Amino acid sequence: MASSILFVCLGNICRSPSAEAVCRARFDAAGLKHVRLDSAGTGDWHVGNPPDPRAIAEGRRRGYDLTSLRARQAVAADFERFDLVLAMDRSNHRNLTALHGAAGGEPLPAPRLFLDFARGHEGLEVPDPYFGDRVGGKDGFAHMFDLIEAAADGLIAEIRGV
Ligand code: 4NP
Repeated sequence: MASSILFVCLGNICRSPSAEAVCRARFDAAGLKHVRLDSAGTGDWHVGNPPDPRAIAEGRRRGYDLTSLRARQAVAADFERFDLVLAMDRSNHRNLTALHGAAGGEPLPAPRLFLDFARGHEGLEVPDPYFGDRVGGKDGFAHMFDLIEAAADGLIAEIRGV
């Protein structure tokens, strides 16, 4: 199964770097150090910037270090470099589908939704927390990490074939 995974959101400063950091920690703990992980944004506004301070803070609270990550923009060639390209929401997925087409389309792997790997959240989106919305009474960043942790565990199970 996947030996390289790219996580993609809009800005690459909230959702996808958090997914990269959570998966790095959980994959390492699960003996999956060899899986190459990266993240990118479909937009270019934050290229070169570290993750949003709110993502860094909530990550730190849960034991994940996001501080060394820097934003980059997703490119068509990413479909040649990664086995799995995972979108945080449907808008990201649409943008990635256009990049996938620009890369030549099939047989390169088509983008998928990240939460399709999160048990009980299949088909759903990781809501964009950037504008500070609360979700289910929780800070959007805490909710974001809850969803990401569920998807990370689902990805591990999928890679292990269980
Ligand atoms: P992300 O969140 O896609 O999870 O990194 C966002 C970050 C920045 C913006 C939107 C979403 N923005 O509009 O600048």
